[in-house]
Amino acid sequence: MGIRGKFRLLMAGFFLLIVGFSYFLIERSNKQLIELEALRIADIISNQVLADRAIYTGKVVQKLKADGTGSDRHSAKKSGFILLPAQFIRSVADKVNEQNRGLYSYHLRSKWNLNETQGLQDDFDSWAWQGLEAQEKSGQSSSSGWQSIYRFTEVNNQEVLQYYKADTASAQPCVSCHNAYEQNPDVKAMRVAAGVKPGKQWKLNELMGAIRVEIPINTVKAMANDGRNTLVLSLIILFITGFAAMMVVIIKSIINPIESSMEDLTSFSKKIDSVVECSRDLLKTADEQVHIYEGARTNKGKASINELIKMADRSAMSAEESAAHCLELKESFAESSSRFAKIIGLKK
Ligand code: HEC
Repeated sequence: MGIRGKFRLLMAGFFLLIVGFSYFLIERSNKQLIELEALRIADIISNQVLADRAIYTGKVVQKLKADGTGSDRHSAKKSGFILLPAQFIRSVADKVNEQNRGLYSYHLRSKWNLNETQGLQDDFDSWAWQGLEAQEKSGQSSSSGWQSIYRFTEVNNQEVLQYYKADTASAQPCVSCHNAYEQNPDVKAMRVAAGVKPGKQWKLNELMGAIRVEIPINTVKAMANDGRNTLVLSLIILFITGFAAMMVVIIKSIINPIESSMEDLTSFSKKIDSVVECSRDLLKTADEQVHIYEGARTNKGKASINELIKMADRSAMSAEESAAHCLELKESFAESSSRFAKIIGLKK
């Protein structure tokens, strides 16, 4: 392969390496950013839900209790009573899920659900619930410090974050009310039907349920992919332009001079051949002269003197020619060496 081919191959390899590597890095950092951000939003949503319920329970329900009423599961039929905290959360969640057109959704979930729609329903529910239970088994006892359980998965061709945050018996009323419900024959029957051991009794800070948040990440992923494509395309254009400019400089200032120096070398060898030829001629004329001298010594003839003069002329001509070739050779050498000096930057 010629020097041009090698350069082109080297640059193509370099180009592929850089573009491929950039694509990989951008893709990876986009994925990390999107997942981190989705998780952060899920954290924000679940914290907001828990804070809403804490204030609803501690300030609103408590106030009504002091005034003589409170919250009740059947508040609609009872004058002066309002929704239970869990019902309040479900109402807000239903409104949110209906209003925000797929931005996010959340639900309350529990293995010991009192509302039929809030039990463990799909494989994520069972998997994440096991994750929370495992934390409780391994000694998780305070209300803080629970690790959220999550996964990124595909649901109906949509990439989503599925997220579970523990909802624990953070106050005595949670324990008393839910423990009482678990003794109710209807609830016991519901547990048996669901294959769950009936009669569950909680202590403070134990796991009661979970807030399940779901956040689709399709749109933001598509946007990130657009950004990635624009960046990679710009990189490709920049590199092609840069490489083309570099190629031109390399061809003009290195490859072309080297190639013409090669031509110089060929003409050097031709010129050296001519010098050798002239020297041979000189040698031949010198030989002939010796013969004529010898003839002149024996014959003392005039003709030989004339021939001698002719010979001397021919010798002089050959010598002149040889000198001219040598001069040309010297000039070519000077030219080539100045060209080489230019390539390596010795001379301007
Ligand atoms: C006065 C009784 C009462 C109190 C107090 C109470 N709950 Fe509930 N809880 C219920 C009822 C009833 C439901 C079912 C509501 C519905 O139909 O949506 C429920 C629902 C839930 C759910 C959803 C799963 C399910 O059972 O449907 C969770 C989780 C939950 N409660 C946790 C708590 C926590 C934590 C506390 C304390 C901060 C608490 N509850 C306080 C009665 C109570």
